[in-house]
Amino acid sequence: MVELYIIDINDLVSKEQYMKWLNKISDELRKRILRFRFLEDAKRTLYGEIIVRYLACQKLHIKNEDIKIERNLYGKPFLKGYPVFSYNISHAGKWIICIIANYEVGVDIEPVKFINLDIAKRFFTKNEYEMILMESIDNQQQLFYQIWTAKESYIKYIGRGLSIPLNSFTIYKEYSDIYKVDIDKSCIIRSIKLLENYVISICYNLLEKQQIEFHKIKMEEITL
Ligand code: COA
Ligand code: MG
Repeated sequence: MVELYIIDINDLVSKEQYMKWLNKISDELRKRILRFRFLEDAKRTLYGEIIVRYLACQKLHIKNEDIKIERNLYGKPFLKGYPVFSYNISHAGKWIICIIANYEVGVDIEPVKFINLDIAKRFFTKNEYEMILMESIDNQQQLFYQIWTAKESYIKYIGRGLSIPLNSFTIYKEYSDIYKVDIDKSCIIRSIKLLENYVISICYNLLEKQQIEFHKIKMEEITL
C-alpha cells in the first residue's frame, strides 16, 4: 500500500510545541535546522522529519527514541533497521508531501510556473522533448512539469539524486496519469492531481498494491 500525506507548513504551531519537536530529532539534524536563515526552510525540514517519526511510531508500534534516521551516500533518508518502512519527502511552497510504502518510493512536488521549453531541450531526452512539443500549446507547460516531477521522483526512488543524469533515461506515458521509465521495469510513476497549480509525481515499486491512500494531516494533531 502506498500512502500519501500532505501537510501545510503554515498550520498554527505554538513556539512551545516547535521547541518540543526540535528535541525529538537527532542532534545533527537539530543543528542543521537551527542554521537555516529562513523559518520556512527550518519548518519544512523539521516538520518533514516529525511526520516521518510520527508515522513510523504509529505503523511500527515503536517509540520515537527507538527511531534512527540515516542517509545513503546520496542523501536519501531511511529508517535504520526497518526496511519494510520506506518513505520519501518533497517540499514546495507551503506544502510538504510525504509518502510511505513497504518498498522503495520517491516523490516530487513542483509549482507550475511558466517555463521556457529550452530547459526541456537541454535536460530531457529527445523523446521527452518531442512528446512535449506534440501537445497543444496549452498543455505543453503542464506536461513539462509532469515529466520533470516524474524524473525527479524516479531518481529519488532509486535514491541516487542528481548523480543520475536527467537525460540518461526516458519517461513515457503508459496511459492517462501513469508513466514508466524506459530503463527500469521495477517501478511505476503516478501523476497526482491534488493541489491546484502544483504537479506531484510518485514513483513506487510494482510489488506494491496499486491503490493509493491520501491523507491530509495537521501539525497540531501530531504527538510524539
Ligand atoms: N534520494 C531521495 N530522496 C532524497 C535524496 C536522494 N538522494 N536526497 C535528499 N532526499 C530527500 C530529503 O528528504 C530531502 O528533504 P530534506 O532536505 O528536508 O532532508 C528531500 O528529498 C528534498 O526533496 P525536494 O523537496 O523534492 O527537493 P529538490 O527537488 O530540490 O531536490 C534532490 C531533490 C535533492 C533529491 C535532487 O534531485 C535535486 O537536487 N534536485 C534539483 C532539482 C533540479 O534542478 N531539477 C532539474 C530538472 S529540469
Ligand atoms: Mg523537488
